Amino acid sequence: MRQVVVLRPQLPEDLPLLTGGESPFDDFGPRRPATQPADCDLEDSGALTVLDDDGEVAGEVSWHWQARRWGPNAASGCPMIGIWLRPTHRGRGVGSAAQQQLVELLFTHTAAHRVEAHTDVENLAEQRSLEKAGLLREGVVRGGQWRDGAYRDGVLYAVLRTDLARLT
Ligand SMILES: CC(C)(COP(=O)(O)OP(=O)(O)OC[C@H]1O[C@@H](n2cnc3c(N)ncnc32)[C@H](O)[C@@H]1OP(=O)(O)O)[C@@H](O)C(=O)NCCC(=O)NCCS
Repeated sequence: MRQVVVLRPQLPEDLPLLTGGESPFDDFGPRRPATQPADCDLEDSGALTVLDDDGEVAGEVSWHWQARRWGPNAASGCPMIGIWLRPTHRGRGVGSAAQQQLVELLFTHTAAHRVEAHTDVENLAEQRSLEKAGLLREGVVRGGQWRDGAYRDGVLYAVLRTDLARLT
C-alpha cells in the first residue's frame, strides 16, 4: 500500500532535522546549517518538508528549474527534483510517495511539461523509488556529477505531463 505523506512548507523547527548528508550519494563536503526555511515557489527553486503517516518530519523534497534548457526558449525549461530522507525514515515507501506528490504539485501549479530527476548509477534505492513514483529511466549521463573526489555517472529520469494518464 502506498505510504501517506504530506508535503508542507518548511518551519524553523524542522531545520535541525533536515541536516542532509548521511548518505554516500549526498556527500558534497561541509555545508552550512540552514538558518531559515527554504522558499517554496514552485516556479523557482525551493524545498518542502516531508511528513510521514505519523506526522513526523521524514525529510525534504526539493526542485530547481534547470539552467540548462532543452531549447533556447523558456517553454523548453523544466524542473529537476531531489530528495533527502532521514536514515530512520528510509526504506518504507516514503521516498516514492513524496516524489510522486511533488511531481503532481509541479504539474498542477506550474506549466511544466516535463519533470526530471537524476541520481547516481549506484543509487539503486533512488532509482527504484523514482520508478515507483512514475518517472521513466531515459539514459545514463556520463561523468556529469563531481562528488567526493570523482566524476560520477548518473541516470536521468523524467515524467511528462502527458504521461499522467498512465500514472492514474
Ligand atoms: C533514496 C531515497 C530518497 C529513497 O527513499 P525511500 O523511502 O528509502 O525509498 P522507497 O522505500 O520509496 O523505495 C526504495 C525501493 O528501492 C529498493 N531498494 C532499496 N535499496 C536497494 C538496493 N540496494 N538495490 C535494489 N533495490 C533497492 C527497495 O526495496 C524499494 O523498492 P520496493 O518498494 O519495490 O521493495 C532515500 O533512501 C534517501 O533519502 N536516501 C539518501 C539520500 C539520497 O540518496 N537521495 C537521492 C539523491 S539523488
